[in-house]
Amino acid sequence: STVDVVVVGSLNIDMTARVSRHPLPGETVQSTTALTTSAGGKGANQAVAAARLGARTALVGRVGADAHGDSLLEALRADGVDTARIGRDDEVATGTALISVAATGENSIIVSAAANARLSPDDIAGAGPLIAAARVVSLVLEVPVETVTAAARTAHAAGARLVLNLSPVTDLPAEVLALADPLIVNEHEAREILQRKGFPVPRDAVEHAVALLGVGARSVVVTFGESGAVVAESGRAEHIPGVPAEAVDTTGAGDAFAATMAWRLSQGDALAAAARWATRVGARSVQHPGAQPSYPTLDHVLSGSA
Ligand code: RIB
Ligand code: NA
Repeated sequence: STVDVVVVGSLNIDMTARVSRHPLPGETVQSTTALTTSAGGKGANQAVAAARLGARTALVGRVGADAHGDSLLEALRADGVDTARIGRDDEVATGTALISVAATGENSIIVSAAANARLSPDDIAGAGPLIAAARVVSLVLEVPVETVTAAARTAHAAGARLVLNLSPVTDLPAEVLALADPLIVNEHEAREILQRKGFPVPRDAVEHAVALLGVGARSVVVTFGESGAVVAESGRAEHIPGVPAEAVDTTGAGDAFAATMAWRLSQGDALAAAARWATRVGARSVQHPGAQPSYPTLDHVLSGSA
């Protein structure tokens, strides 16, 4: 393979306001700092996180023919991500995310999909040779389900391993779930998927991951923030301890986690070993503001520097 990781997913400009607490419905709160603008989107975040760790990475996506699209492409190229399969759409704007980050580091996000909603199965067909050259194809759900489905089929036909971050939670064809190796979700997403499928809500972390194998994925990783993650395959589960961190901003930590999994799996790691790396990178990312600006290089991770 000539590419370690091909990500198919979204690109957004993140507009972030820090607040002492998130507003309730009908309430107005003041931002405690100036509004910041940075590169985001679950797809672009994964691509940058993987590339920064040293993976040969490409992103398949769509942005508008506008200044926000320019700056997202620049950010990707600065990290060495292959952007040849990112389309420019002259009819709609680049995706935007309105983010509030509370004093606890917890975020709340509104996404305007814009160009991301127009990433189509035709775009996947155009990216066929790129996807076929990948060891791992990583998918997120901020682009249309039919596009994700086309990407999963193309990846599978080419023999690439599929990493599926089912975020935000979306109903997917069983065929796509069955190819996920692993399906990666956080604890909230895990619960939502199990509820939608009519499964009983599990009592503990390990049970969440095992129950999710029941939705049909080949393997599962459930993240529990500071409490680490649980990996499960063939009915067996293992808890991966969390890495302690002072959370400043959790935005994009899940994307860093998924990207690290994709990179380590592309290098032949077993699921649990990859998840150990991913918890370290995720913990590093929450200690700095923003999504892409907070992702570590391999040197940062190896030296254990915050
Ligand atoms: O996962 C974090 C990301 O979600 C942000 O960068 C924002 O753009 C939204 O896509
Ligand atoms: Na961060």
